[in-house]
Amino acid sequence: MDLTGISTWLNARPAGHSLPQGLYTTAEAFDFDLAAIFGTSWLLAGFEAEVRAAGDYLSFMVGRWPVLVVRGRDGTLRAFHNSCRHRGSILCAPGTGTGARLTCPYHRWTYGLDGRLLAAGRMPDDFDKGAHALKPVHLESVAGAIFVCLAETPPDITVLRRDLTPLLAPHRLHRAKVAFKSTLVEYANWKLVMENGRECYHCATGHPELSRTFPVTASEYFDLEADAARAFDQRMLTLGLPGGPAGEDWWQAVRFALNPGTVAMTTSGDFSVKKLMVEAGGGDIGSLRWAIEPNNFCHSTSEYTFCFNAMPVSATETHVVATWLVHEDAVEGVDYDPEELIHLWTQTNLQDKAFAENNQLGINSPGYTPGPYSPEAESLTLRFVDWYCARAADYVARAAA
Ligand code: FES
Ligand SMILES: [Fe+2]
Repeated sequence: MDLTGISTWLNARPAGHSLPQGLYTTAEAFDFDLAAIFGTSWLLAGFEAEVRAAGDYLSFMVGRWPVLVVRGRDGTLRAFHNSCRHRGSILCAPGTGTGARLTCPYHRWTYGLDGRLLAAGRMPDDFDKGAHALKPVHLESVAGAIFVCLAETPPDITVLRRDLTPLLAPHRLHRAKVAFKSTLVEYANWKLVMENGRECYHCATGHPELSRTFPVTASEYFDLEADAARAFDQRMLTLGLPGGPAGEDWWQAVRFALNPGTVAMTTSGDFSVKKLMVEAGGGDIGSLRWAIEPNNFCHSTSEYTFCFNAMPVSATETHVVATWLVHEDAVEGVDYDPEELIHLWTQTNLQDKAFAENNQLGINSPGYTPGPYSPEAESLTLRFVDWYCARAADYVARAAA
C-alpha cells in the first residue's frame, strides 16, 4: 500500500479539527483504515451469551475479512479466520449457528471445533491434515464480552481486563440472552458514524426520545464536580456498584446518573423489562457507559446492555450492528415487550443514520474543509479523532521503517 497520500492527509489536519476530505471519501483511506485500525485493534466481537453451548458459533465480517468465534467441546472460546484451508471458501455465513463440526460447504473439508482439520476427501495418502488447521485469531473474554484481534501481536489488554471487569461484573453478562439484534445500513464513512456516536452536541434537538433520560447537555457524559454526580457515585458505592471512571486511550468506562425522575434508559423513563440483570437499588443505578475504539459503545443499565458496533463496509458504507441483552430468564411477551425494549435505541440509531449520511454528503462537497470541534461539547469526538490520527501516524511510521 502506498501511504504517501495518507501521510499527506494526516499532516494536513489542523489540530482540533475534523479530518481532510480524502480520509472520509476514498477507497485508499478505507483500505488503510482496515489495515491500520481494524487489523491492529481489539474489537468487541460479541458476547458469551451468543455462543453459550459447545458448537455455537458467531460469524461476522471485519471489513472484507470474515471471522469466526466458536465454543469448543471443552467450553473454550476460540476465534479463527473464516477461510477454508482448501481453496478459501468461508465455512459459515455471517450470523450465529451451531454444529458438532465445521464443514466447508464447498468440498466438505471438515474441521473440529478447535480448528483442526479432521477430514478431507479424495486427497492423496501423503496429504498432511496437521498442516491445514484453521488459522487462529486472538480472542479474549472479559466479564462475558468477547474481544478479537486480527494482528499477529495484539495490543496489551491487561489493563482493560483488570479495570473493566469489576465495573461490568454486576451486570452479569454471563447470565444474559440476546433479546434483539439488528443491522442498520448507513451510507457514511465509519469514522463519521463514530464521530457522531461520540458526541451529544446534536442530542437535545436530534434525539427527543433519548433526551428524556440521557443527560444530553452535560459537557461530557458525566460531571465529577457536580454535587448530584457525587451523591450518585456515593449511592452506587454503597450498593457495591463501582462506577469508574476507568480507561486508557482506546477505551473508557463510567457509570453516570440518568435524568432526575427517570430510572431506565427507555422512551418512557420507566423499566421495560421486569426481570432485572442488576437488582441493587431497585434497579435505579443509571448507566455504565463503556466505549472501545475504534468502533463501539455500550450502555449497561439494570435491565439491559445495549451494544453499538460500527462495522466498516466501504469508504461510504457502514453497518451498525445493535445488540440488546437482557436477563436470561426474562421471557419475551411476559417480562418484556421487545418493541418497547428496542424503541429508544432504534429511534436514536435512525436519527443518527440521517446525521451521518448528511455529514457524508456535505463532506463530499468541493467546498468542504476540516472544521473545528467544540472542545466542550465534542470532547469525546475529538478524543476519537486524535486517537485515530495517532494510530494512523504510528502505522505509517512503522511501515516506513
Ligand atoms: S474450499 Fe473448503 S473444501 Fe474446498
Ligand atoms: Fe446521536
